[in-house]
Amino acid sequence: MCGIVGYIGPRDATPIILNGLKRLEYRGYDSAGLAVLQNGKIEVRRDAGKLSRLEELLRESPIVGAPGIGHTRWATHGAPSVQNAHPHLGQSGDVVVVHNGIVENFLELRDELRAEGTIFRSETDTETIVHLVEHHQSAGLSLIEAARRTFQQIKGANVIVLMSAREPEKIIAARLGNAGGIVVGFGDGEMFAASDIPAILEHTRKVLFLESRQVATITCQGVTIETLEGKPVQPQVSNVPWDPVAAEKGAYRHFMQKEIHEQARSLTDTLAGRVEFDTARIRLPELNLDAALARRINKIYITACGTAAYAGMVGKLLIEKIARIPTEMDIGSEFRYRDPIIDENTVVLAISQSGETADTLAAMEEGRRKGAVIWSIVNAIGSQAMRIADGYISMQTGPEIGVASTKAFTAPLVDQYMLAILLADLRGTLDDKTRHALVADLRLIPNLAGRTLSREADVELVAHSLKDIRDCLYLGRGINMPIAYEGALKLKEISYVHAEAYPAGEMKHGPIALIDENMPVVALAPKDPWYEKMVSQIQQAKARGGKVIAVATDGDELTASMADHVLWIPETPWMLSPVITVLPLQLLAYHIAAIRGLDVDQPRNLAKSVTVE
Ligand code: F6R
Repeated sequence: MCGIVGYIGPRDATPIILNGLKRLEYRGYDSAGLAVLQNGKIEVRRDAGKLSRLEELLRESPIVGAPGIGHTRWATHGAPSVQNAHPHLGQSGDVVVVHNGIVENFLELRDELRAEGTIFRSETDTETIVHLVEHHQSAGLSLIEAARRTFQQIKGANVIVLMSAREPEKIIAARLGNAGGIVVGFGDGEMFAASDIPAILEHTRKVLFLESRQVATITCQGVTIETLEGKPVQPQVSNVPWDPVAAEKGAYRHFMQKEIHEQARSLTDTLAGRVEFDTARIRLPELNLDAALARRINKIYITACGTAAYAGMVGKLLIEKIARIPTEMDIGSEFRYRDPIIDENTVVLAISQSGETADTLAAMEEGRRKGAVIWSIVNAIGSQAMRIADGYISMQTGPEIGVASTKAFTAPLVDQYMLAILLADLRGTLDDKTRHALVADLRLIPNLAGRTLSREADVELVAHSLKDIRDCLYLGRGINMPIAYEGALKLKEISYVHAEAYPAGEMKHGPIALIDENMPVVALAPKDPWYEKMVSQIQQAKARGGKVIAVATDGDELTASMADHVLWIPETPWMLSPVITVLPLQLLAYHIAAIRGLDVDQPRNLAKSVTVE
């Protein structure tokens, strides 16, 4: 959701902020704006619509100067419009603010400010922030004091960046709760602030992440961090291992296509440093898991949303199969509302690409409140889900920009497979032969992914034959049942085709009534323990006139003889098969959307980081 970029330094802030905002487009937004100090006066350009509209405004009426702050807004309070777009200026025009989150007590604050004569020009909650800062400034407080006083008054989870023409040598950034992160970037005589690393990766890899209830005063020379109460905090600077090219589209048409193809490499990175093939041992040091902890765990709740939840469904099966620990997958938005049974021997394992998803974070907090051990599998370095956990596994896939998650789906499948082996090994329940066999299979995965992705042209041909469909049914069983859900989600979110997924065995209990020549059926039929069952499902679908697109293993003549189209995959060890079977389904959804001419990387109504409940 909303994206924030700030710059202070000798260069012109406008292009730096614009480029940074472009790198945050993936977060989803419906209006954009920036404010830059030009000749001692704050100039604002903003409007509803995409960044191209903001660029148009800046061409008509350029602003040159620094510092500056910019914003892409995903509307919560008030429709996407020029008045509601950020940045918001105060009455005097001396203070300007951008904001991500929700000021929960804004109605009350607005009434108080109105009673004192403040005129509001937007419907947003954000505007209260700027008026409060001005109000405190006019009472004689410095910018940082006025800002801190304001942050203490507002309720809710919020990230705020502001600046003032009266104190042009600084930008203030604050993080209050879990409304997304804020990263401060260190340059040479210049500094940056942003919602996420890709926005500033071309300028610096030296960064620090603000914790909740911390306020940063950023100048050209560096940053001072204080708590909300004004207590100094020692900055913890880290280096981001990501390559700036990772956030570029390169020769691909869309980020999603690039990220699908990156999976051969990202899966190699997922294994890097974690697997000792000679001894068949797994190392996940950041998880802080030792034998004593492994032995006392009696239940694992995996919790996540959307695609990450489907990865968790596969993880449940893997952990139960390999480590024999009872495991449940719970949707993040439901977990905290159903009073889950948790004690100190329970693990709550959150999976999140962004590490910012409000519902997943709330599920982690529910686990924490009830005394569970909290783990996370996270892609975004330094994100909240990484920091509030007792231990974590970093996905090591690099930034994922396309809104539809792809490489951040396959990485946690492998992470959970490794976790299951490690748990079983530490609990002493895995014999050497099985452990060696399971670990050896990991070595095959990057190559199998590469071979599957090299068949993109075949998938594209199938996509052409499906380009006009209105509905689609996805069926799978066992370990590939979650892949049916994931395939259907990919199709609906980027192609806007109504797609439903079912455990194939459920067909005869109702959904089979849907099947006719207008209802294509995507059937996951790799050579796994559920293969025969899937063959009979395909026969049943064919018997009702359905058009079947099967995901099948090379050489499977039986499936080929029944299906209308086959998306072939190479033979894969069954416990790792979801990592491979999902690839043609990602490509299929991608190509159907691309053929339809849709905005693949930023599908309508969706945001990359869902930082509100
Ligand atoms: C679908 C998709 C979403 C996310 C979900 C959770 O392609 O991207 O369903 O998986 O919003 O997001 P994270 O993983 O950031 O917690």
